[in-house]
Amino acid sequence: MKRDFLSIADWSPRELQKLVDVAADMKKRPVKYKNSLRGKSVALIFEKQSLRTHVTFDVGIYQLGGHSVYLTQSDINLGKRESVHDVSKNLERWMDAVVVRTYSHQACVDMGRYMKIPVVNALTDFEHPCQAIGDFLTMQEHLGKLKGKKLTFVGDGNNVCNSLMLMAAKVGMNFAIGCPVGYEPSQEVVKIAKGDAKKSGASIEVYHDPAEAVRDADAVYTDVWVSMGQEDEKEERLKAFNGYQVNKRLMKLARKSAVFLHCLPAHRGEEVTDDVIDSKQSVVWDESENRLHSQKAVIYTLIRK
Ligand code: CP
Ligand code: NVA
Repeated sequence: MKRDFLSIADWSPRELQKLVDVAADMKKRPVKYKNSLRGKSVALIFEKQSLRTHVTFDVGIYQLGGHSVYLTQSDINLGKRESVHDVSKNLERWMDAVVVRTYSHQACVDMGRYMKIPVVNALTDFEHPCQAIGDFLTMQEHLGKLKGKKLTFVGDGNNVCNSLMLMAAKVGMNFAIGCPVGYEPSQEVVKIAKGDAKKSGASIEVYHDPAEAVRDADAVYTDVWVSMGQEDEKEERLKAFNGYQVNKRLMKLARKSAVFLHCLPAHRGEEVTDDVIDSKQSVVWDESENRLHSQKAVIYTLIRK
């Protein structure tokens, strides 16, 4: 049975921890894995812009001995030149897996349904599961065992937040978000996370006061206030998020040993200040590197020889 990687919610705590562990091993011993995708081809479909996810999938597949084909909207115009269904039915005849970044989460889910080959969510409006695997590897490297530690997300209850919250709940990390009223994570995701948190012993808390959310955090995370596709809402969002900036003052409320994370790209001076993102507490470049190892682990797990 083929497996997709569309949502953190679909994978068990053990399977998710295994992905993080395989990523860590690939980082330590890359040579061991170098032929594991020999003869395999992976399509990378990107409806939205990308630096990290595009480059790390491309380079990662190459490092595992496979081959990738990068397709943007100007190549295939997914859903317009040809339906998601028909594009999928073509791709499954040539490729071994498809990595896809779409606006609509449903389009990504549909591709998984239409194809006999694995589909990987490379970010939708709803989730960014590959980011979460890399970030949990990064936190594990810096904080050790994550069970019982606290991750606080400050800002928009968006795609990145959803995946982090689901992942925290699965592996037993306490999770808090500090967000403005009206920008909470989706109730559906909070409900799933709370269900998983009950089993893992974690807590899931939604605050509107960022200071309260950050108190005693072991990791403080933020993301842009205006995600891709929300450009029309820029003005109202900048107003709503005023007061939710991660700056030195806010970081002081977290634990002394706390790390700062950001999925990037960062809008310096908006959601984060230079003196935080460039500080000793910041692990953003490790996160960026770990996208490579974690995505290699995802693809390897789904289609290795
Ligand atoms: N963090 C992340 O996914 O970056 P890109 O949008 O550049 O891929
Ligand atoms: N929330 C951001 C993440 C970018 C990696 C976006 O969707 O644009």
